[in-house]
Amino acid sequence: MTETIVKTWAITGASSGIGLAVTRQLLEQGNKVIALVRSPQKLQSLKSRYAGQLIIMALDLSQTERIAATIQAAFKTVGTIDVILNAAGYALVGAAEELSEPDITTHIETNLLAPIFITKAALPFLRAQKRGHIMHISSEGGHITYPSASIYHASKWGAEGFFDALAKEVQALNIAVTLIEPGRIKTGFDDHAQVTNIAIEDYRKTAVGAYFRLLAMGRFPMIGDVEKVATRIIETSLLPKPPLRLVLGSDSYKNITRETQKRLDSFVTQAETAAQTDAEE
Ligand SMILES: NC(=O)c1ccc[n+]([C@@H]2O[C@H](COP(=O)([O-])OP(=O)(O)OC[C@H]3O[C@@H](n4cnc5c(N)ncnc54)[C@H](OP(=O)(O)O)[C@@H]3O)[C@@H](O)[C@H]2O)c1
Repeated sequence: MTETIVKTWAITGASSGIGLAVTRQLLEQGNKVIALVRSPQKLQSLKSRYAGQLIIMALDLSQTERIAATIQAAFKTVGTIDVILNAAGYALVGAAEELSEPDITTHIETNLLAPIFITKAALPFLRAQKRGHIMHISSEGGHITYPSASIYHASKWGAEGFFDALAKEVQALNIAVTLIEPGRIKTGFDDHAQVTNIAIEDYRKTAVGAYFRLLAMGRFPMIGDVEKVATRIIETSLLPKPPLRLVLGSDSYKNITRETQKRLDSFVTQAETAAQTDAEE
């Protein structure tokens, strides 16, 4: 059950989907939210309802040079921020060879570099207040991969590595880190995906073509409930010892455990050959 402790959160992606659901539930419970969004107009009705609790700051995450100053302004405005939730992100779909370099750069800036820069800018304040919780919405796609989503996976696997290491760096400073790993959740995520359709005919015969056909057939259903996901994220923030990884959705659990087991099985077969490259002494 969610406790009634008033907290201050900073949330990217608060204008839509998971970030919006978390924002709405937090405000309903009396908490304070700093919404870091590129579309402030989307939050105007919430702002008029929760004027004293909701602070909106404009921030396009692809403009990474603006991040540090915005985070500093956020802390200066409210004094203390208890939880930072990186909920912004989008899918970039297409064969790696077919994606443009500017599209790849913007994607990695938004999905990976921005959360890293937000974290770097927030850490001096979290250390000074001697507590904090950084939550990052990763994905089952931070452990498994689909063809046509290589750059999205690069952003999610990259974030998995960054926040996993960060957790070790800041644990003794009373700063918690949680990677949230949902399966497919009913949000506007698919509609907001940036898709590069197949132009190089060769790819129609590969797993890329098969993936596009399955996508068109609706074979990747969104089974997760966004409000339940938001509730679980908030509940997790209230745990005395929040987990480093939070798996959400039976699809995510099934896919992550299957692929992780496959990877482990493959490593185990290499026990002897791996040791063969050890130095003699
Ligand atoms: N839904 C799923 O099935 C699913 C599964 C696993 C992981 N996830 C992850 O969950 C996170 C949230 O996705 P969602 O399902 O809530 O999708 P969503 O409804 O499309 O929300 C995405 C949010 O990201 C924001 N955003 C995108 N680019 C931005 C930028 N350059 N600057 C600032 N904000 C930006 C959007 O802002 P605007 O409103 O201005 O567009 C929106 O608020 C993503 O990281 C996604 O990878 C989703």
